[in-house]
Amino acid sequence: MTTSATQAVVIGAGPGLGRSLALTYARNGLDVGLVARDAERLQQLADEIRQLGRTVTVETADAADPSSIASAVEKLSARTPISLLSYNAAMWGPKLSEVGLDTLRSAGEVNLHSAVAAVQAALPDLRTHHGTVLLTGGGLALHPSGDHGVLSVGKAAVRAAAYALAEDLAPVGVTVRTVTIAGFIAPGTDFDPDRIAEAFWDLAAHPGSEVERVYTGSQQ
Ligand SMILES: NC(=O)c1ccc[n+]([C@@H]2O[C@H](COP(=O)([O-])OP(=O)(O)OC[C@H]3O[C@@H](n4cnc5c(N)ncnc54)[C@H](OP(=O)(O)O)[C@@H]3O)[C@@H](O)[C@H]2O)c1
Repeated sequence: MTTSATQAVVIGAGPGLGRSLALTYARNGLDVGLVARDAERLQQLADEIRQLGRTVTVETADAADPSSIASAVEKLSARTPISLLSYNAAMWGPKLSEVGLDTLRSAGEVNLHSAVAAVQAALPDLRTHHGTVLLTGGGLALHPSGDHGVLSVGKAAVRAAAYALAEDLAPVGVTVRTVTIAGFIAPGTDFDPDRIAEAFWDLAAHPGSEVERVYTGSQQ
């Protein structure tokens, strides 16, 4: 992965892990593109990144609409080539026995389809720069929960997509990895978002052969 004059794009740049990922990528020399729905919060994060001396670009888009995510990625790519694509958006939902079909469809768009749309939109840059895709996973992929059926299915899909894309894109020099976060993110704990973001960066910088890193908080 090259870092000079390229950017990391964080989709789902929220106040928790998304913020930590964006700041970590900036501290490691990448310009940053931020994508989420909340424009005001994105601008606040953009100000923090500028203070690190990096260039930052903001695009609002809704991951429930994969075409809007693809369009945001294309706009960011037109400004600065993308060498790191970090898909972090996720949608919780109720039990599968209770969820409405519209909610289930939206969750599918947010948890999987927009991730794939983003990868496809960034692929020309990722190929050129031997770039990296990092998908944010969750322990629900490994241990599905009845109470969180919608996200369990979503994270299982993200995990499968990571393995499938890794094999699919390795021949063109694009690295795909996922960090499966096996616990609740909370500042000041083993699951501090800054610590988790360091694990993401480490995986991007030293990908090794394993597609998935399970973050358990103890050894990372
Ligand atoms: N929190 C946990 O304990 C935990 C545990 C394991 C795994 N994870 C995973 O870690 C990731 C980050 O979780 P987090 O809780 O720290 O959240 P976060 O990074 O603070 O925020 C994620 C952001 O994604 C954006 N997003 C959600 N739906 C979206 C949509 N439809 N379109 C565009 N953006 C959307 C939201 O921003 P906008 O509202 O501005 O759109 C949200 O703030 C998620 O993938 C989550 O599944 C979290």
